[in-house]
Amino acid sequence: ASFNLLLLPGDGIGPEVAAEVEKLVKWFDRQGLARFEVEHDLVGGAAYDAHGAAISDAAMARAEAADAVLFGAVGGPKWDGVPYAHRPEAGLLRLRKDLGLFANLRPAICYPALADASSLKREHVEGLDIVIVRELTGGVYFGEPKEIVTLENGEKRAVDTQLYTTHEIERIARVAFELAARRRNHVASAEKRNVMRTGVLWNEVVTRVHKDEYPGARLEHVLADNCAMQLVRNPKQYDVVVTDNLFGDILSDVAAMLTGSLGMLPSASLGAEDPATGKRKALYEPVHGSAPDIAGQGLANPIAMLGSFGMALRYSFGLVEAADRLEAAIASVLAAGLRTRDIAAPGANAVSTGEMGDAVVAA
Ligand code: NAI
Ligand code: MG
Repeated sequence: ASFNLLLLPGDGIGPEVAAEVEKLVKWFDRQGLARFEVEHDLVGGAAYDAHGAAISDAAMARAEAADAVLFGAVGGPKWDGVPYAHRPEAGLLRLRKDLGLFANLRPAICYPALADASSLKREHVEGLDIVIVRELTGGVYFGEPKEIVTLENGEKRAVDTQLYTTHEIERIARVAFELAARRRNHVASAEKRNVMRTGVLWNEVVTRVHKDEYPGARLEHVLADNCAMQLVRNPKQYDVVVTDNLFGDILSDVAAMLTGSLGMLPSASLGAEDPATGKRKALYEPVHGSAPDIAGQGLANPIAMLGSFGMALRYSFGLVEAADRLEAAIASVLAAGLRTRDIAAPGANAVSTGEMGDAVVAA
């Protein structure tokens, strides 16, 4: 099989961790398992320096045409002063918006070898494997009106609008149930129906999608604040957690800290299914940023980026067995004691970005 992958390494450690994915791509080629036509383009500060915009129209056109986009990270002190519309994050925001990426998947996997690095006790996180599915294009971050107005008495009033339609809730619910069907088939839906009308509708629509389309799955409803508490108390009770943009922003960061380092966390953002081809637009990226403090020194942990490529194998390319093998390779390298500096014990030996990538490919 042959797939078109657009690689957007970006800034800082982005290019360093992207280079490790290219080693994997070559491995697939050598094994004859799959061919990836890899295109490269600029994003973030690098694109601003070259084109005066955080992503060029040509790069956007390539992203639209690709089977998947793999994004490194953007930003850094060098671009702190650039005009707001051209700030490095604008490249990522345009990709999300123009590709219609409404579903953000953030797995939280705790490798046994790293369980002691978690904020929780080993027994609470060892073997943890959950996914937070966050609605990414609606809700209070985008709802109108959104304004700060000065009242007649001189006071100011700020307004953000939490707003969801049936369609927006249905499509994110389907992503969650379909994901769960390939896992432990358990979905927890988090909202605040006790105080928010959007929570009432969310609950109603998720319940109906479950009953009509995925009756074999187990569905539970949980209040979002309780969900935050449960994630810290006993995260292994969950499989897939589906929630809105605001709660998902917070709950996915909570879940992330259950697993140790930022350098370990992959993510996927998926768009609507094309009814003709069954394919989705998709962008995969590590959760971490461009880490200017360690850039250019070979210190970056490439596992978040390799894991993001793994998610592309699973969700965009249908190479499920290859994705499982990649995850097993990462687990075995960690079990063997290999550590980049961010996950090494203080004072312990650490390997470079390239050494970690080589070890994963070898495994
Ligand atoms: P960051 O994620 O870049 O770094 C936070 C800390 O984690 C740093 O100490 C860094 O060295 C460490 N770290 C991050 N990734 C690592 C890895 N793979 N291996 C080892 N250590 C790692 O977040 P920060 O420092 O808040 O932001 C730095 C820049 O990145 C800013 O310009 C920010 O705007 C941008 N950023 C970009 C994102 C993106 O491209 N999606 C997301 C978050 C921040
Ligand atoms: Mg956040």
